[in-house]
Amino acid sequence: MCGIIGYIGPKSVVPILVEGLKRLEYRGYDSAGVAVVDENQINIRRVHGKIAALEKSLEESPLDGIYGVGHTRWATHGRPCEENAHPHQDCTGSVVVVHNGIIENYLALKKKLKKEGHTFRTETDTEIIAHLVEKYFKGSLEEAVQRAVQDLDGAYAVAVISSKDPEKIVAAKVGPPIVVGLGKKEFFISSDINPLLSYTQKVVFLEDGEMAVIEPTGANFFDFKGKVLEKKVHHLSWSRLMAEKSGFKHFMLKEIFEQPQVVRDTLKGRVFLDSGKICLDEIGVSPELFKKTERVVIIACGTSYHAGLVGKYLIEAMAQIPVDIEFASEYRYRDFILDKKALVIVISQSGETADSLAALRIIKEMKPLTLSICNAVNSSIARETDGVLYTHAGPEIGVAATKTYSAQIVALALLAMHLAQIKGRIDEKASLALIEELGRIPHKMEKILNQAKSIEDLASKFVSFSHFLYLGRGVSFPVALEGALKLKEISYIHAEAYPGGEMKHGPIALIEENMPTMAIVPRDRVYAKMLSNISEIKARIGYILAVASEDDKEIEERVDKVIPVPSTEPLFTPFLTTLPLQLFAYYIGAMRGADVDQPRNLAKSVTVE
Ligand code: M6R
Repeated sequence: MCGIIGYIGPKSVVPILVEGLKRLEYRGYDSAGVAVVDENQINIRRVHGKIAALEKSLEESPLDGIYGVGHTRWATHGRPCEENAHPHQDCTGSVVVVHNGIIENYLALKKKLKKEGHTFRTETDTEIIAHLVEKYFKGSLEEAVQRAVQDLDGAYAVAVISSKDPEKIVAAKVGPPIVVGLGKKEFFISSDINPLLSYTQKVVFLEDGEMAVIEPTGANFFDFKGKVLEKKVHHLSWSRLMAEKSGFKHFMLKEIFEQPQVVRDTLKGRVFLDSGKICLDEIGVSPELFKKTERVVIIACGTSYHAGLVGKYLIEAMAQIPVDIEFASEYRYRDFILDKKALVIVISQSGETADSLAALRIIKEMKPLTLSICNAVNSSIARETDGVLYTHAGPEIGVAATKTYSAQIVALALLAMHLAQIKGRIDEKASLALIEELGRIPHKMEKILNQAKSIEDLASKFVSFSHFLYLGRGVSFPVALEGALKLKEISYIHAEAYPGGEMKHGPIALIEENMPTMAIVPRDRVYAKMLSNISEIKARIGYILAVASEDDKEIEERVDKVIPVPSTEPLFTPFLTTLPLQLFAYYIGAMRGADVDQPRNLAKSVTVE
């Protein structure tokens, strides 16, 4: 979704804004722009399209200034075009606004402002904010913003500058994130921490209803009534290098290859090989509270939902607690039933997904125990749940989630074992065996990644296909869903995933030679059932690829091509079977010339509904 960057300090502002926008690119956008202030004159440059086009325009006709704001726009209200690109201005051109979110009452406000004589230039909801600030401005920009936000309904993260109250940037937040970077005599406003990593590791996260004013002398924080706030300064552990491609062609490929390390990092300090114990004290939820859990509800979207579905199998098998898994976007509008003995787990890489956050807020009214599994430290979802179990995946820049999915299922495996141990549903010997196998997973992942070239060769044979079917049963069904999602996102090939047993209830009608099937067939309790499903497809001349255990000779007779993965505990097969599917989707997408790291229409962090 939209990205905001703002800078005030001694350095030249334009390169910092452009570099910052590049680091926000992964969020998804269709246009970009900057506004910089030079001798009280605001200069704006906007383009429809990529940041490269903005850079080119700035090279051809440079802008200069001592502070400013930049923006990447992901269109919600108004077409993606140069006029609708941010920054937006008021009637006088003295107020400039960049915004992430949606102003729900913008039509009513626009009508009123028009009646009052304001002239609008764009189709966006954002422009009304500039006119409201213009209307309420009486000499202090922060006071005008404080007054303007009282009129707004909806979700917004805004950064505002005014040539009439110079050398300051005012930011306000209700919904989408705003983080303030505290450098040495330089200060930043950003939608996330990635643009800040090159300059500072000291940041302040704004909460809803809070504002920041950054000036050359410092950063100050207020609530919407103007009350001064003392905010906690966080020290980031992520480094700039973690957000670089490091020689890989795409971030997605780099992130796929980082998975063994991500699994190691997410396990680190949480498992004890001597006692077989899991230590998750960091969550901040007492074992007594976990012990009361009689039902688990997992809420998530997209890939996080698929990880949650793997979690359902893990928790039900290990802790023997019933688990419901729900799409956040559906759950929030359902008449759902929850009691206080439920444990609600919200899974979100970004911790800012609007549907997941909104569902969490509704759920909290019923007062169950809430827990989040997040990658972004101190994100909204992490802050608003009773406890948080962080995945240690580092920054994920590719829009398609890969390493964060693996980290999420590690976290879910740990949680499943933790619950099982607290409830006394697993003995020490079984715990130890599972922990030891978890410890072997990174090495087994490396073995799969070593086969990347053969997966690339295989992918090259399917570049021109238009459809794909993915099949799995049991814990491999979510893997099939995730494999199909990756192919759709990255290559734009239509792919559908079904549980193998569902084929005969309809999808089998699709089978013909141009509809290949990717079957996920590890040796587990549904292995024989999957073989039958595979035979049914083969009998209808369907081409079948299978991700299967490397020691499985039988499968070779049944399918056209096998992608071997090391054997593991059946419940842990998603750690291994997902990797070839990520690589397969990546190579097909790259060979089709798709924008793998920033697929069309997608945003990394979906902060609007
Ligand atoms: O940040 P979140 O985990 O809450 O994001 C959820 C989805 O938007 C995300 O997983 C999305 O489906 C990705 N594009 C998947 O690759």
